[in-house]
Amino acid sequence: MSETLHFPAEQAAKLEQYLPQKGSDLHLTLTFATSLDSAISLRPGVQTALSGPESKAMTHYLRSKHKAILIGVGTAIADDPGLNCRIEGSTSQPRPVIVDPRARWPLNSELKVIRLAREGKGLAPFVIVSSAAMVADQSDKDLKDWGGKYIKVPERAGGGFSWSHIMQILKSEGLDSVMVEGGGTVINSLLWEENLEYINSVILTIAPTWLGKGGVVVSPDRDRGEQGNVPAARLRDVKWCPLGEDVVLCGRPTNRICNWK
Ligand SMILES: NC(=O)c1ccc[n+]([C@@H]2O[C@H](COP(=O)([O-])OP(=O)(O)OC[C@H]3O[C@@H](n4cnc5c(N)ncnc54)[C@H](OP(=O)(O)O)[C@@H]3O)[C@@H](O)[C@H]2O)c1
Repeated sequence: MSETLHFPAEQAAKLEQYLPQKGSDLHLTLTFATSLDSAISLRPGVQTALSGPESKAMTHYLRSKHKAILIGVGTAIADDPGLNCRIEGSTSQPRPVIVDPRARWPLNSELKVIRLAREGKGLAPFVIVSSAAMVADQSDKDLKDWGGKYIKVPERAGGGFSWSHIMQILKSEGLDSVMVEGGGTVINSLLWEENLEYINSVILTIAPTWLGKGGVVVSPDRDRGEQGNVPAARLRDVKWCPLGEDVVLCGRPTNRICNWK
């Protein structure tokens, strides 16, 4: 858990154009590991090792290039992730952000992300909860003591937070680059056409594995009304980079239907 990771400079150079650039307003990188059948885990709530050690080092390298790492509460509960950066030479830590409208995440001192924050090896999370969520006073105090906080945000009329709202919150907290790591609900909602505009780049790792039916699958809704049957999303500026036994796919989403012919 505590070893330092190395990501070779020649591999890092291939990713450069997809990373937050100096002076950019607010950069969102969507990144996750997927199987050949587009699954990111075997079942909802089950953590599933997919990619190899080289890809793991890449994830930590990417974390070193972003101010925040965002996940949904489903992932926070299923994986108990550390959400810190262990790449060699890194001098700062990204801020974990957990989207948890109903305050379901069972905050306690033994959670990996909290342990790492207490040990000075990472930052405590900002947890985005609904204005109506009941957060226990003790949890509120504990999270503050560990350096994180709950951020209360009104939900949309239909429920859930809009991505524009989430992005505004990040910006107001000075988190102008964010790496969204999952899970399925978060990724699929971002890849839905209305939200594609918030994604600056996609860096995903494809592992040489089929997980089989029943997994958590990345497959966004396709709702184009009168415009007919067209893909939900497609990448442009695409680069494929072999990495160990995996392949890393980089690109930028486009929702310009005319470009897809
Ligand atoms: N392979 C990979 O790279 C990778 C990476 C991360 C996670 N995973 C896997 O993915 C699985 C978890 O995926 P998941 O779909 O169950 O969970 P998830 O996407 O992590 O979290 C989903 C929950 O987050 C909240 N949420 C998400 N977007 C929201 C929005 N816009 N507004 C308000 N709330 C929002 C909702 O909470 P409420 O239900 O409380 O409303 C929603 O049910 C796990 O098995 C994990 O191991 C894989």
